[in-house]
Amino acid sequence: RAKSELKDFLHISDFDKATILKILEQAVEVKALLKSGERTYLPFKGKTMAMIFAKPSMRTRVSFESGFFLLGGHAIYLGPDDIQMGKREETRDVARVLSRYNDIIMARVFAHQDILDLAKHASVPVVNGLTDYNHPCQIMADVLTIIEHIGQLEGTKVVYIGDGNNVVHSWLLMASVIPFHFVCACPKGFEPDEKTVEKARQAGISKIEITNDPKEAVRGADVVYSDVWASMGQKEEAAHRRKVFQGFQVDGNLMKSAGSKAYFMHCLPAERGVEVTDEVIEAPNSIVFPQAENRMHAQNAIMLHLLGY
Ligand code: CP
Ligand code: NVA
Repeated sequence: RAKSELKDFLHISDFDKATILKILEQAVEVKALLKSGERTYLPFKGKTMAMIFAKPSMRTRVSFESGFFLLGGHAIYLGPDDIQMGKREETRDVARVLSRYNDIIMARVFAHQDILDLAKHASVPVVNGLTDYNHPCQIMADVLTIIEHIGQLEGTKVVYIGDGNNVVHSWLLMASVIPFHFVCACPKGFEPDEKTVEKARQAGISKIEITNDPKEAVRGADVVYSDVWASMGQKEEAAHRRKVFQGFQVDGNLMKSAGSKAYFMHCLPAERGVEVTDEVIEAPNSIVFPQAENRMHAQNAIMLHLLGY
């Protein structure tokens, strides 16, 4: 299938630049409509969505559920104890049964293979709501936020400070589609997946830097971005990581090194006083709440695209 006609939303790099930009434009339009109080655009009327969560969530759960409802549909929350995908029942069975009740499936899982299997066996679109490997809806919302605050992603410098995790992988995959300057500053041994870095570099579209020097990395940044040091599923490593990640906290000094034009972004939830100080997250140039809000608008547009609107 053409990149604009894929059934599922699993990785940003599955799509071409035109499709990603089209989805983001639709997000801007539908956001304006919803913010105006308009409630007559109901493309999802008569449609249902199953939402599978193997991990906790606030933003993903509420933004998908509210967003799908505001556009006329009904979303069903299935928590970690409900489906137990792969444990109570095989993923391929879950995929085929849910496809018979629902028009679309959203899932947040541990192993990335689980979402690939789910998509393979589902006859309806599957949206990736985070895996251990990536978090594409987050980065779509982030880019929407950058467009709103800076005008466009193209040509900007985005500097991520912290663990080379799922969020970083989605930034790298975005960098293989839209040209910008992406820098990931992480402690030695916590670099992002090599194959993904290679894929982004091979695309030859963006400037990609992986470094262990946060202070140098942030110079001239348009965006300084941070995420938790221990992701879901790694919480038992949290104490060890706090030691290793010393020097990677985004604080007032680091933001000063970045320069006056730098916005601060964080996908949230944040551990204040750990990866970011309270001062930075509460500063006027912190755009973490517009960023969180945009999860809903970006995802609405992703679902509209997948459902053929
Ligand atoms: N940013 C994000 O995905 O938040 P939740 O884990 O609360 O969904
Ligand atoms: N990297 C974090 C993102 C949370 C939205 C995690 O996977 O827990």
